[in-house]
Amino acid sequence: MLQERQDEIDAARRQGAPPEGPSVAVVGATGAVGVEILRCLETRNFPLSRLRLLASPRSAGKTLAFRGRDIPVEILDENSFEGIDIALFSAGCATSRQFAPIAVKAGAVVVDNSSAFRMEKTVPLVVPEINAAEIASHQGIIANPNCVAIVAMLPLWPIHRSNPIRRIVLASYQAASGGGAAMMAELYDSTRAFLDGRDFTPAVAPHPYAFNLFSHNSRIDAATGYNDEEIKVILESRKIFGAPDLQISPTCVRVPVLRAHSVALTIECERATTPEEIREILSTAPGVKIVDDRAGNYFPMPKDASRQDDVLVGRIRQDLGDPTGRSIALFVAGDQLLKGAALNAVQIAERVVAKVAA
Ligand SMILES: NC(=O)c1ccc[n+]([C@@H]2O[C@H](COP(=O)([O-])OP(=O)(O)OC[C@H]3O[C@@H](n4cnc5c(N)ncnc54)[C@H](OP(=O)(O)O)[C@@H]3O)[C@@H](O)[C@H]2O)c1
Repeated sequence: MLQERQDEIDAARRQGAPPEGPSVAVVGATGAVGVEILRCLETRNFPLSRLRLLASPRSAGKTLAFRGRDIPVEILDENSFEGIDIALFSAGCATSRQFAPIAVKAGAVVVDNSSAFRMEKTVPLVVPEINAAEIASHQGIIANPNCVAIVAMLPLWPIHRSNPIRRIVLASYQAASGGGAAMMAELYDSTRAFLDGRDFTPAVAPHPYAFNLFSHNSRIDAATGYNDEEIKVILESRKIFGAPDLQISPTCVRVPVLRAHSVALTIECERATTPEEIREILSTAPGVKIVDDRAGNYFPMPKDASRQDDVLVGRIRQDLGDPTGRSIALFVAGDQLLKGAALNAVQIAERVVAKVAA
């Protein structure tokens, strides 16, 4: 039934006429992720009957365009979820913690982009290409994973299923938009100032951003030396894969790129494997596109990954550092505002709708 409903949604989408559907709220609609959620709902012809846009008092009086209409942005409060079936949250942890339970109590299913509930046992942490079946067990809240975890783990899943991955070493190259609209604006402003020879004092990033890179701007654990972003990648990847023993060592770094995160990955599998085998597996993997042109030195780049649904994968090569032949190195790039956040959330919501209708 779930697949039949999905087919109905797809058929309606092709015809350009959305059927009657659920009432949807987007919390954080004015933010970097929020505006992409609106675009995804529009371009995927999400079958909604009503759309409510919510943000902070800073956005009072604003409107956002959706399907040719200007929709007013409302200020989020305790009564915002009356009559709402699905609430897509992307307004930070504190807002999710305060308002997601209120939305659930009002009868909505919450898909949350923040990290507030990701590691709670009763909350499914979902990348639909990997563990869509988990959605059925939700108790009102479904969490969208960390953006690096999604971009890195999506292409690794089909490899893991064929030849279990035991260990992953990764280094991320994370875009400014991962830090929200304000960090993106600061990358523009600081670059302009740098080129004009003007002084610039960072207000959002912890260090000068233009022509620089820095260790991820999250809290560092004094004991281990890992930052919160890296710990999220470790714990959430294990939960998504259902593999509590998966060994992961991440290094997360912000780079002066506006959009799309890149990740260098070295994976160690249970059995020996080859780049050809990995390429073959990835060639049919959903949500993955191989960009691996050795002759042309053309591999995944954030500029190509931006505004694309697929995660780009390339530089697929034998890890020369492992003589056993069990390790492979890869480089991936994926739009963290889309597959790493908005698109993944809307894909989850589509499955929730399909299930309710089934
Ligand atoms: N950016 C990414 O690539 C990414 C990826 C995965 C997950 N996430 C997560 O998604 C969430 C949003 O990130 P973002 O990058 O979109 O941030 P952002 O650009 O800073 O946008 C934040 C949004 O939340 C709203 N907001 C903030 N405080 C609020 C409050 N007290 N009440 C109501 N609305 C409030 C803002 O409204 P105003 O405009 O009115 O201030 C804005 O719409 C975060 O939890 C983040 O960790 C982000």
